[in-house]
Amino acid sequence: MDNKKIGIFIGSLREASYSRKIAQAVIEMAPEGFEFKIIEIGQLPLYNQDYDDHNKVPESYTPFRKAVKALDGVIFITPEYNRSVPAVLKNALDVGSRPYGQNAWDNKPGAVFSSSPGHISGFGANHHLRQSLVFLNIPVMQQPEVYIASVQKEIDDDGKLSDTSREFLEKAVKAYIAWFERLT
Ligand SMILES: Cc1cc2nc3c(=O)[nH]c(=O)nc-3n(C[C@H](O)[C@H](O)[C@H](O)COP(=O)(O)O)c2cc1C
Repeated sequence: MDNKKIGIFIGSLREASYSRKIAQAVIEMAPEGFEFKIIEIGQLPLYNQDYDDHNKVPESYTPFRKAVKALDGVIFITPEYNRSVPAVLKNALDVGSRPYGQNAWDNKPGAVFSSSPGHISGFGANHHLRQSLVFLNIPVMQQPEVYIASVQKEIDDDGKLSDTSREFLEKAVKAYIAWFERLT
């Protein structure tokens, strides 16, 4: 049987992004039968409804929408920007949600992992993201909630996680797989 494909969406374009380092660690935690892969979102121009209404869709939208449709599940790994979802990630949600009636995200079991160098761990982004995921019909894992505070202390320059964060993420990935299997 084919591996189940889980797309990982990163809410940061920064080269040395902690979110990307977390994503890379999570990819290695994929159990047998699953493939976790990063779906890039930085190439997508800002969504403009005219593109869909007047058949002028930017070149990068079509493969992105196809890639999202082909996924079995989705994991969002994001920092918080001004207490909310970074625009690049919200833009990717919007691009995948249209044209009207062709929501590529529909019904794919999801999870949200957030982090921050501060103490609030991206809570604002985590929960604002969940608000959009309700409308996109992504059933989101409820527990454990994944917040990583003081992320700069949890990951070294080579992307190695502290033992505590690694164990926590492994537990979260296991819970996500159980959530995925319950729904599919
Ligand atoms: C525009 C902007 C807004 C930010 N707003 C917040 C915020 O609301 N809360 C927070 O904890 N950190 C905030 N930060 C700091 C980010 O959490 C920090 O830069 C983090 O490392 C970004 O994630 P990354 O390492 O994956 O790029 C902000 C950073 C930027 C650039």
